[in-house]
Amino acid sequence: MTEQNFIPKPYTNSIQQGRYTWSSPSNIALVKYWGKKKDQIPENPSISFTLNNCKTTTTLSFSKKTDKEAFSFEVYLDGEKKESFKSKIETFFNRVEVYLPFLKAYHFKIETSNTFPHSSGIASSASGMSALALCLMSVEKALLGGSVIPSVVEESQAETYFIQKASFLARLGSGSACRSLEGDLVVWGKSEAIEGSSDLFGVKFPHQVHEVFKNYQDTILLVDKGEKVVSSTVGHNLMHGHPFAQERFKQADKNLKTITEILKSGDLDAFIALVESEALTLHAMMMTSMPYFILMKPNTLEIINKIWAFRKETGSKVCFTLDAGANVHVLYPENETNLVLNFIKDELVAFCQKGQYIVDKIGFGAQELSIYK
Ligand code: PMV
Repeated sequence: MTEQNFIPKPYTNSIQQGRYTWSSPSNIALVKYWGKKKDQIPENPSISFTLNNCKTTTTLSFSKKTDKEAFSFEVYLDGEKKESFKSKIETFFNRVEVYLPFLKAYHFKIETSNTFPHSSGIASSASGMSALALCLMSVEKALLGGSVIPSVVEESQAETYFIQKASFLARLGSGSACRSLEGDLVVWGKSEAIEGSSDLFGVKFPHQVHEVFKNYQDTILLVDKGEKVVSSTVGHNLMHGHPFAQERFKQADKNLKTITEILKSGDLDAFIALVESEALTLHAMMMTSMPYFILMKPNTLEIINKIWAFRKETGSKVCFTLDAGANVHVLYPENETNLVLNFIKDELVAFCQKGQYIVDKIGFGAQELSIYK
């Protein structure tokens, strides 16, 4: 697939107005994406667990307008108008207009809400951008009379194409958003190890996965809910000319191959070593860029040390990963749920802001909520 395949054929239906609602989850990368080329093309492939409970629900209402000169839209978060979201969406619309040529023909009302607390430090860009991309795909599907597939794609691939294009669009909104549409494991970025993988969109991990990774748990410890000191856009850009960048990209590529084997064999010790190393490498890249910055907080390190001590003491297979922030994702197999939740309550909650954490697990991707239609 190339970018050209995502330019639609001429629209056949004329639609005055409508409304679609999609709910889409967040995701947590195991092998991290950090560093990008033009148009949100990743410097290295990444793989993530799709989450289940942390999600965004977006309703897109649209009505035809008379002119087609500019984008026209309003954005609401939890019922409140959000002027501050507009520039991000304007940028997104500009990037995707060539693939969604109806964008200037309608006025859009975007109503969005998150299941996780506002400004919890959990990025809503992955769930938010993927939910919006899916709503836009529903509009396009209606304009095309129910089928979005171009002539080069076979009819049997219609559903895959719909998701691929939504993922392609979501990527242009926020890179990691392209991994949120499906579950439970999604790869984004071309890799020899993954058939069908692409820099343009996320694909479902196509290989066999060991039982132990089914229903894997992720409890997110909210260490710091403040605004990030450095945005991920700035962080990605600091990988240009970074002294260790090329080695990092090679390492991520290799780690994706290794994790493919680990996911098959169920080797949890190897999983822990790879996932924790990826998290610390991501933050090491931040600390060694120029300008340098640190997103971890003292409590992030306290939690990491507690997890290591607990593992040593009990033989538990609990481990951590980090996003571009101070919060800690605590990952563990389903059969350790009671053990780890008790450990979190007894020893880790003290390091969370206001004692807050979110119990989540891996999930299966976005859903259209037709009840709202
Ligand atoms: O999608 P962005 O541009 O916000 O980048 C996010 C990158 C990380 O969350 C740090 C890692 C990843 O692969 O999700």
